[in-house]
Amino acid sequence: METFDHLRSPHGFVLFTLLATISKGLACEAPSSPQCFRRNEEESVYICEWGFDTNESDVTFDLYFHDIIGSVSKFMNLKKNRTEIIEEKLTVGYKIDFWVDARAGNSSCTSPRRSGVLVDSVKYDAPQNISVFWSGNNLSLSWLAAEEHPALAEVWFRQYEHPTESWEKRLINTTDEASMYKVIVVNLLKNSAYQIQIRHQSMKAKNSLWSSWSPVIIVPAELEHKPEVSSKIKFVSHTRQVTLTWKSAPRAATLSGVKYRLNDTQSSRGCPCKKKSRETSTNSYTFYVSYSAVNITVIARNAAGESPQAIIQVPAASAADLKICDKSLLNKTIKKRTCLEFYELQDADLKPESVMTLTARKQKKEKQKINKTMKDFTRYLYFEHRCDDGKPQKVKMCLFYKKEGVPNKEPKDFAVVAETQNSASLSWKGISHEHLRGFLTHYNLCSVKISSQDGKKECFNVSASATKHHLKGLTPGTKYNISLAGVTQAGEGPLATQTITTSPEKPINVWLSFGLLLAFFLLSTCCTVVLKRIKSKIFPPVPIPVIQDFTPRPPESEQEMWERKEEVHELTLHQIVSEQKSVSEETSSFRREWVDRTDERSEAERTDSTRSDDERSSLDSAGQMLRRTQMTEPERVENELAMLIYKNGLVFDEKSESPNQSDC
Ligand SMILES: *[C@@H]1O[C@H](CO)[C@@H](O)[C@H](O)[C@H]1NC(C)=O
Ligand SMILES: *[C@@H]1O[C@H](CO)[C@@H](O)[C@H](O)[C@H]1NC(C)=O
Ligand SMILES: *[C@@H]1O[C@H](CO)[C@@H](O)[C@H](O)[C@H]1NC(C)=O
Ligand SMILES: *[C@@H]1O[C@H](CO)[C@@H](O)[C@H](O)[C@H]1NC(C)=O
Ligand SMILES: *[C@@H]1O[C@H](CO)[C@@H](O)[C@H](O)[C@H]1NC(C)=O
Ligand SMILES: *[C@@H]1O[C@H](CO)[C@@H](O)[C@H](O)[C@H]1NC(C)=O
Ligand SMILES: *[C@@H]1O[C@H](CO)[C@@H](O)[C@H](O)[C@H]1NC(C)=O
Repeated sequence: METFDHLRSPHGFVLFTLLATISKGLACEAPSSPQCFRRNEEESVYICEWGFDTNESDVTFDLYFHDIIGSVSKFMNLKKNRTEIIEEKLTVGYKIDFWVDARAGNSSCTSPRRSGVLVDSVKYDAPQNISVFWSGNNLSLSWLAAEEHPALAEVWFRQYEHPTESWEKRLINTTDEASMYKVIVVNLLKNSAYQIQIRHQSMKAKNSLWSSWSPVIIVPAELEHKPEVSSKIKFVSHTRQVTLTWKSAPRAATLSGVKYRLNDTQSSRGCPCKKKSRETSTNSYTFYVSYSAVNITVIARNAAGESPQAIIQVPAASAADLKICDKSLLNKTIKKRTCLEFYELQDADLKPESVMTLTARKQKKEKQKINKTMKDFTRYLYFEHRCDDGKPQKVKMCLFYKKEGVPNKEPKDFAVVAETQNSASLSWKGISHEHLRGFLTHYNLCSVKISSQDGKKECFNVSASATKHHLKGLTPGTKYNISLAGVTQAGEGPLATQTITTSPEKPINVWLSFGLLLAFFLLSTCCTVVLKRIKSKIFPPVPIPVIQDFTPRPPESEQEMWERKEEVHELTLHQIVSEQKSVSEETSSFRREWVDRTDERSEAERTDSTRSDDERSSLDSAGQMLRRTQMTEPERVENELAMLIYKNGLVFDEKSESPNQSDC
């Protein structure tokens, strides 16, 4: 006992160690002093472990516990540098010394001694199942809790892109909930990937030991954006093949791998095929959907979380020429792997607002429920799907009314325009589905004369797809009521009415008279042209005499005028002398000439073309003289009268002289 006490002093311990090493030879290096602890406060199993480096293959260890009373517990021939010992075999409540002997070949060496109260020592296992999650620039880390008390965690991290940088270190108290320890490392960069390692220790135990480090884990950057998905839809034998492709996420976010998860509203309802988990690490995926509307979501997922979801809305397959369903549809027994859908249609776009699904299982109950909830006079899009080889197949697609009613609205924008005296053009817009309340079989178009006594109503059917009509066979000049109503199996809806009056009948055909007028005009035009041609051949063109003096141009200067006229006057004088004419005679002759020329100027043809130029110029100058000489009033009146009479006679003469002008 004394020896032991002595040996336990630090001095003696060193001595003991030295003795041990020396006595057993120098061939081995001493193991580190052992650590003995529990995994957590609840454990009754103690773990002892120590470090030992050797190249020897055949090493055995002996573990010694030496308590205060002096009793020694030995655990011999241990093959590993770690062992588990149950509580019962140890003294745990008191201070105790322990050490380990390592034996390799013929040599043996002893570790330094350690002392302590075993029950106080707790060392957790290294953090396991670490999950990471970005929330903004804070990184949340969680792992399996070692026990029900919070722990102290040490987190080391550095950016993945800079692996040579030293670790940043943070000590953080964990929160513990649902047997997970959780810490939040704030102010990182969510766009970067990180390397992280964690260790933790108990905050409750008197002697708490740091756990081993967790393995270094890679935290990828956050998947900030939803995948950019493009879709292609192909109709393949009563099913639709959907191929989705998307772009890869940034590298920092895909470092530790990324998966894309696809979901669709059809298979999640199990109609008609069972829900499948669709996950891929590639950038495209092909699968099948039925003809009914479907929403597909794509989510990218990496170790640090999920991206927002991309939603692809695939509308129901085009249903332009859908037939009305057989009424007995709901009474049919639904076969296995078949499922029915009733989409309530609120508007023309076949946008499903609510859907009722009917599958083979529990069909009796479901049918009753559908019968109860399904509304009368409401249009449903009916689908019958079957799951065939994992692909949803269309069996039937039609429009369904639980009960049809008559339309409760008239056709919209009904317009009637009288086109001719016996026809009218009609146009309108269809009645929307919610007002149709049934399947439109046709329109009923009626016309009734208001003005006449008999007032007989004439009706006929117009195709349900028509939006205009040409109404023929009306009586001219009559007032009509024209009405249009939508008709379903249940009957006729309200009327849209318009009143028109056809234009009255005209005595002469307008077109005929117009035609005649046109013909006359053409004929006269041609005659004129022909005549002009003939004339120019028979009568060569006569140059038009100079008539500038007759223009009402005011003289620029009195002087200039006199000078000019003087010249002409000289020429004229000879003529006057030779012909011996009186001024009045000359004036008359001039007047005649002037009137003639004025009347016939455009024609430029006169029978007096034989007259000499000299003669004409003499007349001209006579005229000038006349104008310049101030005549007395009676003289002027006399001349005027003479001229008028003469002129009339001349016109008359000319008319009789040239009969060829009016033969056209
Ligand atoms: C160990 O001892 C045996 C005899 O006891 C001897 O034959 C052997 O050589 C020794 N080995 C070493 C490595 O000393
Ligand atoms: C922890 O991870 C291991 C594999 O790493 C797994 O087998 C185990 O089920 C996980 N435990 C929990 C609670 O997630
Ligand atoms: C990140 O942590 C800081 C400090 O705790 C906090 O103020 C901030 O709101 C957190 N950000 C997010 C997005 O959780
Ligand atoms: C952890 O919590 C304890 C008290 O519960 C406190 O004394 C200690 O400072 C905290 N440590 C850290 C790193 O917050
Ligand atoms: C698809 O999503 C849109 C918008 O969230 C929704 O209005 C529509 O009803 C959905 N369609 C189906 C078939 O689930
Ligand atoms: C014509 O229509 C008007 C109202 O639009 C109605 O009052 C009248 O009775 C109708 N006449 C006939 C002959 O139907
Ligand atoms: C219009 O069609 C219905 C059913 O298609 C028919 O019963 C009715 O006799 C038709 N009316 C006329 C005027 O053709």
